[in-house]
Amino acid sequence: MERVVTDWDQYHRRVRVSQRFLWTVWRAYASLLRGFSFSGPIKIIELGCGTGYHTMQMTRLYPVTKVTLVDFNASVIEDTERRFTALECEKEFLLGDLFSLELNEKYHIVHSQGLLEHYTPDQRKELIRLHRDLLAPDGIALILVPTPSLAYRFWRGLLEKLHQWIYPDETAISRAEFTQELESSGLEILRIQGCHLMEVGAVCRRRPSPK
Ligand SMILES: C[S@@+](CC[C@H](N)C(=O)[O-])C[C@H]1O[C@@H](n2cnc3c(N)ncnc32)[C@H](O)[C@@H]1O
Repeated sequence: MERVVTDWDQYHRRVRVSQRFLWTVWRAYASLLRGFSFSGPIKIIELGCGTGYHTMQMTRLYPVTKVTLVDFNASVIEDTERRFTALECEKEFLLGDLFSLELNEKYHIVHSQGLLEHYTPDQRKELIRLHRDLLAPDGIALILVPTPSLAYRFWRGLLEKLHQWIYPDETAISRAEFTQELESSGLEILRIQGCHLMEVGAVCRRRPSPK
């Protein structure tokens, strides 16, 4: 069957009014990050950054030297750059496709939310490996994806009935499947938990190579 991709322009027009959802997701991020600290100021990269909201929130939790935000939607990157004007640290806004991203820099936090579920299992593993490859030695990757909970299925079913579901390529990912994909892509899971009834989130580090 032909894959119909999400219209990200349509998504971003809608997200401008859903600050409450962003806050709910941030609560999930904060819970995942609880207890993780770093020895000095950190660098953060967000893959498929959208609003960049969660990166901005993290700059209030940790001292930060640099943030990098990547998205392939030009108007999103423009809006996000504007939103980060007041933040005082090095800032980089990259317009481009994650599947061809080439960066040598390493980061203490590599994160994404709402990204993996729009791709096939093989592409998801490629994106997970990208998170892994961008990690500094003491870095952590945070990834949140929707999971097929009762609440998710109910909410999605309702929006589909009302012709309001705008993510034709989205696949909810079970915790077991997510665990398998993370572990088989070279990450070690440090924490994994259900988030706000509809997502599952994980904090991982690069799997130490065998001695
Ligand atoms: C659901 S949104 C992320 C929302 C974000 N977590 C936030 O808080 O605003 C997914 C984002 O990933 C971007 N995206 C999807 N696939 C991408 C790719 N292959 N390369 C770069 N950006 C991508 C989309 O343009 C969109 O902005």
